[in-house]
Amino acid sequence: MGGQDNRIIIFDTTLRDGEQSPGASLNVPEKVEIARQLDLLGVDVIEAGFPVSSPVQFEAVERVVDCVNTVVAGLARAVTGDIDAAYGALKNGDRFRIHIFIGTSDIHISEKFRDNRYGVSLKDKRVSILRMATEAVAYAKTFTDDVEFSAEDAGRTEVGYLAEVIEATIEAGATTVNIPDTTGFTMPVEFGAKISELRQRVSNIDRAVISVHCHNDLGLAVANSLSAIQNGARQVEGTINGIGERAGNAALEEIVMALKVREDLWEFTTGINLKEIYNTSRMVSAFTGIVVQPNKAIVGDNAFAHEAGIHQDGVLKNRRTYEIMTAESVGVSKTNIVLGRHSGRHGLTVRLKELGYHVSAEELDQVYSAFVELADKKKEVFDDDLRVLMGDEIYRRQEYYQLESFHVSAGTTTPATATVLIKVNDQLHQESAIGDGPVDACFQAINRALDVHTKIESYQVRSVTAGRDAQGEVIVRIRENGRAFTGRGVSTDIIEASVKAYLQTLNDQRAALMETEQTEKQKPELQATDR
Ligand code: KIV
Ligand code: ZN
Repeated sequence: MGGQDNRIIIFDTTLRDGEQSPGASLNVPEKVEIARQLDLLGVDVIEAGFPVSSPVQFEAVERVVDCVNTVVAGLARAVTGDIDAAYGALKNGDRFRIHIFIGTSDIHISEKFRDNRYGVSLKDKRVSILRMATEAVAYAKTFTDDVEFSAEDAGRTEVGYLAEVIEATIEAGATTVNIPDTTGFTMPVEFGAKISELRQRVSNIDRAVISVHCHNDLGLAVANSLSAIQNGARQVEGTINGIGERAGNAALEEIVMALKVREDLWEFTTGINLKEIYNTSRMVSAFTGIVVQPNKAIVGDNAFAHEAGIHQDGVLKNRRTYEIMTAESVGVSKTNIVLGRHSGRHGLTVRLKELGYHVSAEELDQVYSAFVELADKKKEVFDDDLRVLMGDEIYRRQEYYQLESFHVSAGTTTPATATVLIKVNDQLHQESAIGDGPVDACFQAINRALDVHTKIESYQVRSVTAGRDAQGEVIVRIRENGRAFTGRGVSTDIIEASVKAYLQTLNDQRAALMETEQTEKQKPELQATDR
């Protein structure tokens, strides 16, 4: 099964680890749409969530299973309740995987399993962890043949113990064994050597696929993943745009393109449809509100831009002077199809489909009328305009707090004042406030109208596309009780974009609160998560 063939399995965890990015929260329809796009991209496994952690996570996994062809994985700790929940969410799928994890490094074992019921000494606790891991794998095996085991913090786990755990979990039935560098601590040479050593030490390693899952705390997640592949790993886990906990996960598009561009060196292949990379990246960015940095490899705005005269001259003579891959190869369209007020429903439908969206007939009515409204305000409607339109019109339509209208008055000689009218559960709330500029005045008025006292942690504004009539995109981040929420608003009027962004953070915060309450009601024991 493991073998040493050259096909690399791509395991996408954008919807699970990626969603753990500070401030990123995806609602269920957004997750479903991203999952469909990942399916089109050709990833081999989609980790759709951690079902036991909340009813919303459970529902997202259940819904994703229904609408993709690829294998769907659900995460579970090494306890039966988690595995039952994972199975419950996955069971309708034709092909699914239960992914079990438990911490194996000394620090994880001694701190997360402090309780004496796991043993008093580290040695005893190690025995308990190994037993929990194998029992969990064996239990998951009663539901499916496809079981992945992750030794959390394997990057910092002593290799002898790690080998013991991996061998025992394969014996218990794990078909994929994942070696996560959970804290992004290891160096590429060191991580590659660890994979190689495991292959030497684990006697039954040929019965499982070796996987790696690298975090980017030192900016080495992709390098570590490639080093692991070179040393025998045949599955890599990562996320689109590299989003994820703290500094994020390995960026899958970078790994895939490194393997493609340097196939002369390694001859590894993947099942990825390269031309879907760009669309996927944009969709994930639009839904999570996490902007892709312009100089980001493969998918950043500048990834294929040539600025210096010498470079431009060289590229005009032969692109290969300064380009090791083409923008077109990852799906960046050079033809720039632009829609306008005269583009009909058909033109809009075709373009949305090309951008990876699935729109029902009923949804198309909503999108089309929003499109016409936008096309009236700005002559040319670009792909990025359509992406944000989709986000606003389809996936965020049923928000709890909805903007009805606002009015601002501002200038250099008078204080800025704002009046907002917000709909909450069919009731209208109107308030006015003064502020330090029109945006602040609107935010203060919203705070009054909704009786919230939220402080803004960060506020960013940029234009979605070029031109004087471009839409402005505002990203607002708030933090409440240590948890960040990011909202995104887009409009040709940046005050309106700001108001929408702020309301989105409040909507997400409320949704998270409801989710916690629901989880507490259903499963009080889950609060003791050892994640
Ligand atoms: O980083 C990590 O170790 C994880 C595991 C759950 C695989 O995300
Ligand atoms: Zn992780």
